[in-house]
Amino acid sequence: MARVVLVTGANSGIGLALCERLLSHDAQVQLCLACRNGQRAEAARQALLVSHPQAHISLVQLDVGSMHSVFKAAQEVRQRYNRLDYLYLNAGIMPNPQVDHKAFYKGLFSGKAVHMFSTGEGLLTQKDEVTSDGLQQVFATNLFGHFILVRELEPLLCRPGNSSLIIWTSSSNARRSAFSLDDLQHKQGNESYSSSKYASDLLSLAFNRHYNSKGLYSSVICPGLVMTNLTYGILPSFFWTLIMPIMWLIRIFTNTFTLTPYNGAEALFWLFKQKPEALDPMAKYHSLTSGLGNNYTQPCKMDIDDIMAETLYEKLLDLEDAIRKKL
Ligand SMILES: NC(=O)c1ccc[n+]([C@@H]2O[C@H](COP(=O)([O-])OP(=O)(O)OC[C@H]3O[C@@H](n4cnc5c(N)ncnc54)[C@H](OP(=O)(O)O)[C@@H]3O)[C@@H](O)[C@H]2O)c1
Repeated sequence: MARVVLVTGANSGIGLALCERLLSHDAQVQLCLACRNGQRAEAARQALLVSHPQAHISLVQLDVGSMHSVFKAAQEVRQRYNRLDYLYLNAGIMPNPQVDHKAFYKGLFSGKAVHMFSTGEGLLTQKDEVTSDGLQQVFATNLFGHFILVRELEPLLCRPGNSSLIIWTSSSNARRSAFSLDDLQHKQGNESYSSSKYASDLLSLAFNRHYNSKGLYSSVICPGLVMTNLTYGILPSFFWTLIMPIMWLIRIFTNTFTLTPYNGAEALFWLFKQKPEALDPMAKYHSLTSGLGNNYTQPCKMDIDDIMAETLYEKLLDLEDAIRKKL
């Protein structure tokens, strides 16, 4: 039976590269591109149809940062499909990123240069905003909208006798120190991106605890450092081109510089080929590219625990209740 796959943020970067790879691997797959901008979504669909003219590709309008849009999109998906095998929670933002230039130059000449470049740790801060739902934008987009989407699509994901997989595009920038259970939305700090990605790592674990018995599994990946619109928001593309020789050099020491969306989608694609039941709920699956350009996926244990994951889950359920009442 053709597998049904929904990808959020499918119109560019890693999401679009994943769609291309899925179609090349399995021409029967039914793809649903969930994107906020109709024109960009249609352009992506047309681009995919050029290389896969027979592909089954549908579009659904989804602004994952707007809760009204998430409920509406989920309703549409429920009407259109009777099953969902893979749900890629890939859409993400890092608004108004600022590079700490002092930390950059200090780190460049320290023993931590490779680590700093591969994780962005200590390098990046963001200025967040508040959405019309009254939520912090990064939290709403990277985490909470996806949480609601999973909850709303439960009837398609949890079917007796079948297993399904949700996959979070997290980051190695997800750090425990940037996240607080007392400030889930990261209203206080200036590392909202790191906080939201750490929360997605925790939430994946909680989803596994609550939904494995219903046949739904959750996994987390890091795509490595990839040149996409997101990274071009941090530094202009000409700057990345300028430092590309350094990045190729650093690749000798770390395989996390995947650089192209195709390479970055490696772990997302690899998960498509695994049995969900066999995956490790405590692992983050990393897309890696060797100096010779070979792609592979490697699991790394996440710095997360059950108690934190469960507390986050309970708090998100409370927030879900509040949002449902408000809407
Ligand atoms: N690039 C990296 O080095 C890197 C590293 C670690 C993790 N990641 C993660 O990888 C994921 C994909 O990012 P990317 O690098 O491929 O960047 P990208 O090219 O900017 O892709 C981001 C996608 O998310 C969509 N999106 C953003 N806000 C949305 C919203 N409110 N509703 C629906 N869709 C929304 C974008 O749509 P529009 O075109 O409409 O903006 C776009 O399709 C993100 O979760 C990011 O955090 C990236």
